[in-house]
Amino acid sequence: MNPSPSSTQSPAPAPKAGEATEVRFPEGFVWGAATASFQVEGSTTADGRGTSIWDTFSATPGKVIGGDTGEPGTDHYRRYVEDVALMRELGLGAYRFSVAWPRIQPDGKGGINRAGLDFYDRLVDELLAAGIDPWPTLYHWDLPQQLEDDGGWPVRDTALRFAEYAAVVHGTLGDRVTNWNTLNEPWCASFLGYGEGVHAPGRTDPAAALAAAHHLLLGHGLAVAAIREQAGQFDRVPRLGLAHNQTVMWPDTDSPADQAAARFADGLRNRIFTDPLFHGAYPEDIVEGLASITDFGFVRDGDLAVISTPLDMLGINFYNPQWVSGDPARVDPATLDDGDNAMRLGDVPMAFVRRGLPTTAMGWEIEPEGLYAVMTRLAAEAPGVDLYVCENGAAFEDVITEDGGVHDHERTAYIDAHLREVHRAIEAGVPMRGYFVWSLMDNFEWAWGYSKRFGIVHVDYETQRRTLKDSALWYSDVIRRGGLLRES
Ligand code: FCB
Repeated sequence: MNPSPSSTQSPAPAPKAGEATEVRFPEGFVWGAATASFQVEGSTTADGRGTSIWDTFSATPGKVIGGDTGEPGTDHYRRYVEDVALMRELGLGAYRFSVAWPRIQPDGKGGINRAGLDFYDRLVDELLAAGIDPWPTLYHWDLPQQLEDDGGWPVRDTALRFAEYAAVVHGTLGDRVTNWNTLNEPWCASFLGYGEGVHAPGRTDPAAALAAAHHLLLGHGLAVAAIREQAGQFDRVPRLGLAHNQTVMWPDTDSPADQAAARFADGLRNRIFTDPLFHGAYPEDIVEGLASITDFGFVRDGDLAVISTPLDMLGINFYNPQWVSGDPARVDPATLDDGDNAMRLGDVPMAFVRRGLPTTAMGWEIEPEGLYAVMTRLAAEAPGVDLYVCENGAAFEDVITEDGGVHDHERTAYIDAHLREVHRAIEAGVPMRGYFVWSLMDNFEWAWGYSKRFGIVHVDYETQRRTLKDSALWYSDVIRRGGLLRES
């Protein structure tokens, strides 16, 4: 085990023979951590990278807290060797990262920037040499600005461009990479980016958001087809999926109004993606309920067959459940957030209510059973598809204490509790095959800039020094044991 040069603590020692592990995960369970290109890479103009919508959005005054931008990120573009050494030190089995489209095609189409591809080539090689499986995501929200100028995701052509780009990346890395996610959280990209305007590109046009959601799904289906079509050139059969932030929309009470609101909220957040993906159709109640916004005229013959192409795996990104009331007066301005606002589409009265549970630094209520509900539901809905938690984690107000450590026991407790739910789901027969903590390290948390820390590794943005938080030491121990201890 080679300690990373800039980390300050070593992970816990491997368990002694015979030491009890109360909650043991199956052999082959994937233990990983995740990041995304714009959140960590920095070097936003290096080696021919084009401009992304997040460069433009974050440079627009008032869009991101503190005026933060993709610089410096965590300087991962230049420090990836050190970061992979850190992952190895932690014992990670897999690293989920994303590929920045504007590094590969600065304008989102046409010419390929070899220097950009080379970065991911080197990263993949470094990971493999460290015994860590590379898990790229092809789109984690950094659309080339030129494509946005051409209309962005509300325009069909963007889906076609995405499939071409996906084929380029697979053509380069497909000899070494097996596990591919096409998209990360199409709900955020469409509803937050085009509807509520709190994410790039910052548009506030509900009809555009719904068209964007469809074209993201179409892009996913076309990318899957393109990758499968050319996969024969390699000895490796790709496993394809996407990471979806499904959550539970629990009715606040069992009143008919709350149940109707919860069902509509479930449609807007979950079924509008999973019905096309797994059942080849948009949910009728949602199509009807959104009739005043769109006629879904962007759906062309054959699209749903492309979108519902069978998947090998599905990523679940889960942070918190939601409780929904049918009484708009129940909205509490103190807790209302951007995600809640983004759901104000259609004519069904709806309010998101809080239960007074403990929250993370994002104000998100902690209820791990929500993850259990999501896993069991998706297992029933997508039989035969391997499921992974592709993101789960929490922001807290971390401090480096005098002893040089970060004693983030709340984060450890959060991850521990959610892992126990994953285990419970496995016991119930759900095909949960892996878990990726969000995030490997503190990073640029979108509209919150660097003000929210999700990492199990602390990053000092002035010096770029990495410090393992207690949660990282604990996670490393969990990985080595293959499970959780009774007292953890
Ligand atoms: C998810 C995003 C990820 C990160 C976490 C906290 O929605 O996929 O990039 O910001 O939230």
